[in-house]
Amino acid sequence: MEITTERLILRPLGPKYLATYNEYAMSLENARYMCFLPVEDEKESLEFLKAAEEEWSKPAPKYYEFAVIHNGVHIGGISVHMEYGKPVLGWIINRKYQGQGFAYESAKAVMDYFAANLGIRYFCAYCDTRNTASFKLMEKLGMKRVHESAGRKNRASSEEASEYKYEIEMP
Ligand SMILES: CC(C)(COP(=O)(O)OP(=O)(O)OC[C@H]1O[C@@H](n2cnc3c(N)ncnc32)[C@H](O)[C@@H]1OP(=O)(O)O)[C@@H](O)C(=O)NCCC(=O)NCCS
Repeated sequence: MEITTERLILRPLGPKYLATYNEYAMSLENARYMCFLPVEDEKESLEFLKAAEEEWSKPAPKYYEFAVIHNGVHIGGISVHMEYGKPVLGWIINRKYQGQGFAYESAKAVMDYFAANLGIRYFCAYCDTRNTASFKLMEKLGMKRVHESAGRKNRASSEEASEYKYEIEMP
């Protein structure tokens, strides 16, 4: 699966992106509010990237991890996870490339592609309530806040946080 937008190409994430994946996945600043990041070391990154690539080769992947490519450079990741019962969107853009609309462009393209090609029109997303960039992005995508709950555990912190859940059912 490859999705092309005006400025970006979304391609299956895999081990060949190790160095550029580490740039954001190992960075505390980049992944402060994330449940599964930052990664501890390169070994963990590599295992994740291998698993992501393997998942792409399955007839019915449980999750889809895309590399976001801009001008030939891997600048972030966008994902759709199916294994939690409903499709969950996730995103991260390398800090160097944030604030230029790349997350919005990627997420919109993935949602449109999944709706048109896989008949998947419902999406949800979760974020730490302090993660303004993430929930503003959800709102820009037309998603609505449906729930707030305690007990979120971000990997970078031992304290529990609160999270929002957003949803959308596309026409
Ligand atoms: C969330 C994230 C992916 C957004 O990436 P981005 O490419 O900078 O986002 P975009 O430029 O596409 O912005 C889309 C909208 O989100 C909102 N937004 C983005 N960054 C914002 C910020 N720092 N503060 C407030 N709103 C912000 C704006 O509404 C923006 O639309 P606008 O520019 O028309 O106002 C990025 O901040 C990131 O990687 N964060 C760290 C990883 C993370 O926390 N991921 C989410 C885990 S739940």
